[in-house]
Amino acid sequence: MSKNICFIDGLEGILKYRGIDINQLVDLPYDAISYLLILGELPGDQELAEYSACLHGAREVNREVLDVIHMCNFNVDSMEALRTIVSFMSQFDPDITDSSPEGNTRKAIRLIARIPTAVAAHYRIVNGNEPVPPDPSLSHGANFLYMIRGSKPSQLEAEVMEKDFILSAEHELNASTFSSRVTASTLSDLYSAIVSGLCALKGPLHGGARAEVMTMIEEIGSQENAEKIILEKIEKKEKIMGFGHRVYKTYDPRGAIFKQLSRELAEAKGDMCWYEIAEKIEETVIRELVEKKGKPIYPNVDFYSGVIYKYMDIPPQLATPIFAIGRVSGWIAHCFEQYEKKRIIRPRAFMLDEC
Ligand code: CMC
Repeated sequence: MSKNICFIDGLEGILKYRGIDINQLVDLPYDAISYLLILGELPGDQELAEYSACLHGAREVNREVLDVIHMCNFNVDSMEALRTIVSFMSQFDPDITDSSPEGNTRKAIRLIARIPTAVAAHYRIVNGNEPVPPDPSLSHGANFLYMIRGSKPSQLEAEVMEKDFILSAEHELNASTFSSRVTASTLSDLYSAIVSGLCALKGPLHGGARAEVMTMIEEIGSQENAEKIILEKIEKKEKIMGFGHRVYKTYDPRGAIFKQLSRELAEAKGDMCWYEIAEKIEETVIRELVEKKGKPIYPNVDFYSGVIYKYMDIPPQLATPIFAIGRVSGWIAHCFEQYEKKRIIRPRAFMLDEC
């Protein structure tokens, strides 16, 4: 394996996957990024074609899994449903007891391919619609939008969804990756490790922030309201969702790319409303918290991605599952690295004082 899975410079705002800057990776297909993360280097044309064929061909879930998705219908949060579904999927994986690198890679491909299908099917069922079977001719991003909508997305929407999955794919030892890695460190199976990641991602301080950003923007409703409402939140010492980061003490490089993408979508749709509200929120937070109080509270990955979902008519309940669809490749890369170490992660309690 070449290079560290991830490199972050939180002061300079640099993010690299396997030694390659995120700005160079964001225009590639998600399949290539997934290959890079879990197999260690960018694929050549032939390797990418073969890997994509495996991923796209593994997207369908079986009848029993669809039955469980139907059972998760009533009042079940989409992340609760997803962790249940992924857990259930493991019993049909023919490689479940094969923990060789080859067996784990086959499981990885099924997980990456089928999690979007499970998310989309649950979403459609909850909304009273039949699931739409995956289309193997479509990219990861385009296929997901097709499965939730039942119609093919525009080229721009498909590209934005693909980039969203790439920007969410990996971020070093965040809470969910750490959870996955701890589970893998016991030499438990890959499905168990991914379920651990899903459980940690669900919380509002981690993957759940994106949905809260969407709700906040919706509640603010207009550019004129933005400054007043944000000032009130700051006054009440409420956290502004989509801002701040444990590692970045400057602008999150993913946030900057998402900002540009949300602007492109707003212009293409001829509706700047959500973008302008977001810009006003950002302007107010930076003025009040960064410039006046000296706190490094900039937009993180969740802020402008929330704006993008508003433009793509993606509801808040899908925001965290979408994060999971992208992140699963990163979780798997970390699990594979941990399986090679064959050493249990066992921190001491006093280390928590620093968290
Ligand atoms: N809005 C207002 N103030 C904030 C915010 C925010 N979003 N984030 C941090 N602060 C303040 C905080 O109140 C504290 O002030 P003081 O020192 O006066 O008490 C100071 O900044 C340090 O905050 P912290 O909570 O100790 O920082 P942390 O490194 O423990 O937390 C964080 C990082 C991301 C959990 C936090 O910034 C936060 O809760 N942000 C909002 C939720 C969010 O957007 N989460 C997504 C994170 S990025 C994706 C991911 O990694 O999952």
